[in-house]
Parts: sequence; structure tokens; C-alpha cells
Amino acid sequence: MHKTIAILTGGGDCPGLNAVIRGIVRAATLDRNWKVLGIEDGFDGLVGEPRVRELDLEAVRGILPRGGTILGTSNRGNPFAYPVREGDAVKLVDVSGAVLAGFKSLGAEVLVAVGGDGTLKIGKRLNDMGLPVVGVPKTIDNDLRGTDVTFGYHTAVATVTDALDKLHSTAESHHRAMVVEVMGRDAGWIALESGIAGSADVILIPEIPFDLDAVCRAIARRRDRGSRFSIVVVSEGAFPAGGNRIVQVDAKENFGVDRLGGVSRFVAREIETRMQMETRTVVLGHVQRGGSPTHTDRLLGSRFGVRAVELIAAGCFGKMVALRGQKVEAVDIGEAVGSLNLVDPDGELVGAAEALGIMLGR
Ligand code: F6P
Repeated sequence: MHKTIAILTGGGDCPGLNAVIRGIVRAATLDRNWKVLGIEDGFDGLVGEPRVRELDLEAVRGILPRGGTILGTSNRGNPFAYPVREGDAVKLVDVSGAVLAGFKSLGAEVLVAVGGDGTLKIGKRLNDMGLPVVGVPKTIDNDLRGTDVTFGYHTAVATVTDALDKLHSTAESHHRAMVVEVMGRDAGWIALESGIAGSADVILIPEIPFDLDAVCRAIARRRDRGSRFSIVVVSEGAFPAGGNRIVQVDAKENFGVDRLGGVSRFVAREIETRMQMETRTVVLGHVQRGGSPTHTDRLLGSRFGVRAVELIAAGCFGKMVALRGQKVEAVDIGEAVGSLNLVDPDGELVGAAEALGIMLGR
């Protein structure tokens, strides 16, 4: 049966979003001849006059290797708490009714919401209000439950690993401690996996509050063994035991989420003063979200897109596509949101890192 479906990408951008969009458009049009609409800038594109364009095969040609999202995105447009400026103040207003009406005016039957925790939570609420939604999990942080991995994560880890390889030579030449701050919010996945792959000496993650004395002892041990440099990877959400994570912009001024950043400077300063060792900080920042997706993320994004269309064809809504083992399956969106997929401090991966001689801050 002929259908019209709509897609939006919400939250922070991430490599592989275009693979999902392309996968959906190809699976929906080639055999099924459905019409696909692309909503611009996440849920923002449904507030006020809908901002939408038709996505046909031509519109998605050549986008597979491109980072970002051809649809644009926003991590501010939560329809249930939409920021509206009133003079100098910003008020959060529920505009979900207008968003539902805007969506209805498109003549689309289903919304595919591609995003992380925030976008999927909104998608679930809209689905519960009667708008059929299929979710696709995205985030470089890999902190979503329900799926073994999210697309975008593999590319981010590859980018950080490459940076660590490059930083090794300069750290070694100058006998410095390089403290490299990576993204991930509350989850230490990026730091842990890139740290192991990039041969870090110390990895600090939010799941294991760190002890600076122990960190300095590990660096001193390396020095005693003749290695006069160290690579320290610190996740932006990591914090010292008994202390707090470092917030650059408070949630109240940042649309409901703390903007993290600055822990590398704190750690570097402590190492420098306690060890009389020259240190430098490198904050990789949004470089981790950019660039061409790896083949793994292109493949995962494409498979997720195809599966999302299959779910729509089968009339399965309120579901999210998910990688489980080797298979792309469907889980309730509710399974993915609410609590985060965090690193297990006593798990195999942390154990392997420690067995390799990497110091985990404890
Ligand atoms: O969730 C993805 C992410 O890149 C986090 O790792 C990071 O804390 C945050 O988004 C940064 O958000 P923004 O692009 O709004 O600065």
C-alpha cells in the first residue's frame, strides 16, 4: 500500500545520520514506492510552519560518506519544553499540540525519529499521544540502552584513537604528560575504548571516580621504568572521588543539560604541580562528532534505516531498531530511554584495560 512517511534527525549531529536517511529513502522508495518527507532541524522543523522537503533517490545520492545530517538538527527543540524568549528571559512552553497538528498537516502516517536519549524520549511521548513513531538510536556517546551499540560511536572512537597515536610522538619527544579530554557525557565508553586502542597510560571515566594520588603514582612508576611521558585520556564527565564533575555552562542556561568541559585542565594542573612534570591539555571536542563515518557506522546506519522501513511496513510503532548480537531487531523505545548504558567498573573491558597495565584512576 502506498504510504507517506517523515524522518527527522534530533540532538547532536553524528557520523552515520546520512546513512540512515539514505537507507530509509532507498528502502521506502525502490520497492515500495512510498513518499518520504524530511523534516528540517529536528522537532524544531515542526514548530510553527512545518519546514519539510521531499526526499527522493536524487536527494540522497552521494550522502553516504558525508558526516552530519542533510536535514539539519537541533538539541534545543523539545516540544514539551520549548524555549521561548520573553524579553531577557527564556520561558519553557509545551508546544506538543502544535507539533502534532503540524505533523498532521504533512499528510504523513509515521514519523521516524533518529536521535539519542532526548529525541527518543520525545518520540515515545508523541507515540503515546497517538502519533505513530519508529525510533533509530544515534549518539557518539554509546550511552543508550536497548541496543548493543549506537551508530556514530565507532567513528568517534576511531577519531580519538588516531589523535592518541599522533599525540604519542610529541609526548615522547618532549617528555610530557598529555591530558586528552574526550566527549561521552556520563558514559566513559569513548575514553575507555579509544584509550585501550590508542595505548593510553591512564584512562579516567565517570563510572570510576579517580584518585589523583594514584594517578601520579602510576605516572611516577612509568618514569622509574624509563618512560618519561604519559598519555592520560579523561572523559569530560570524569570527576575525583569525593568531588564533582566540572560544568562549563549550567543546565539552567543550556536548555536543560549541563555543558561539560574543563576536567583535563584540572587533571593536568594537578599532575604538573605534584610531579614537576610538563603537561599539556588537548580537548578534542566536536572533532569527535565530525567527519566521514567509518564503514562500521555506514553499515549500521544503513541497516537501521532499512529495518525502520520494515517496521513501518509491518505496522510496528513505538519501537526502536537495535543491534542485538549480529542482528538488527526491534525493541520498545521505552527500553532505550530512562536509564543510561554505562561502563561496568567491574566488567570485562575495564578488567582487560587494567590487565594491560592501564591505570583507571583507582
Ligand atoms: O551527546 C553527544 C555530545 O557530543 C556529548 O558527548 C557532549 O557532551 C555534548 O554532545 C556536546 O553538546 P553540544 O554540541 O551541545 O556542545
